[in-house]
Amino acid sequence: MKDLPVGIFDSGVGGLTVVKEVLKLMPFEDVVYLGDTARVPYGIRSKETVTRYAIENTEFLLSIGIKMIIIACNTVSAVAIEEVSSRVDIPVVGVIKPGALAALRVTRNHRIGVIGTETTINSSTYQRELKKLDPDIEVFVKACPLFVPLVEEGLTGGEIAELVVRYYLDEMKDNGIDTLVLGCTHYPLLKAVIRDVVGPEVVLIDSAVETAEAARDILKEIDLLRQTNPSPSRRFFVTDSPERFRSVGERFLGQSLDMVEKVQIPLRNPVSQKL
Ligand code: DGL
Repeated sequence: MKDLPVGIFDSGVGGLTVVKEVLKLMPFEDVVYLGDTARVPYGIRSKETVTRYAIENTEFLLSIGIKMIIIACNTVSAVAIEEVSSRVDIPVVGVIKPGALAALRVTRNHRIGVIGTETTINSSTYQRELKKLDPDIEVFVKACPLFVPLVEEGLTGGEIAELVVRYYLDEMKDNGIDTLVLGCTHYPLLKAVIRDVVGPEVVLIDSAVETAEAARDILKEIDLLRQTNPSPSRRFFVTDSPERFRSVGERFLGQSLDMVEKVQIPLRNPVSQKL
């Protein structure tokens, strides 16, 4: 079991921000990543559709054999983590709880902003999670649907990025928040512009880092964390053309993406009895 890879999935390329942190924190793990590039974006779809996609992605990762699932996508974590968890008997880590915990550790004035896709924000999952952990917290949310295409186009700085970030976040400044959760895989790439707009006194929470830490802690706790591995493997799967994933993905991962394979999802013969 210990030698099995960690499975990570996202709606597309954005989850590579989580992979990047996982590779840093757990360098001896084999990693299998699935980016559902044929069906991205998830952030504008209904809970039912996102849940179906999430189950199909999980099924694919299980068919490879994995010891843990990391749901790198905020949208899936917001609307489908319970459904995925209830269908597998390995640990499932999402990005929302680790991000919420980090925000609560950081805030001094108990006013936290959360930005994400429409489906994430409309689900109120971040709001619920934060309030559950600390009922006195005030949460200010904003869906920023243009951020994903902006980042996918490589517009992570400059005039256009600044205009779009201002368009969504100018009002956030008036809420007096001291902490802002970047509740979407793509947003860490806009960190510099977001910081310029909301001001340096607002701490930006990047759930990728926190999620990788949470995953490592769980593996350690159940004694499945690898301490050695002479040649850790990284396999990347996509549901659409590998070329675009490779070129955009290298920006997210910060290193070259060599092994990218295209797969067909849903699988014709699901392996798991439970699914
Ligand atoms: N991965 C999604 C998220 O973190 C962003 C891209 C999408 O909408 O599919 O919410």
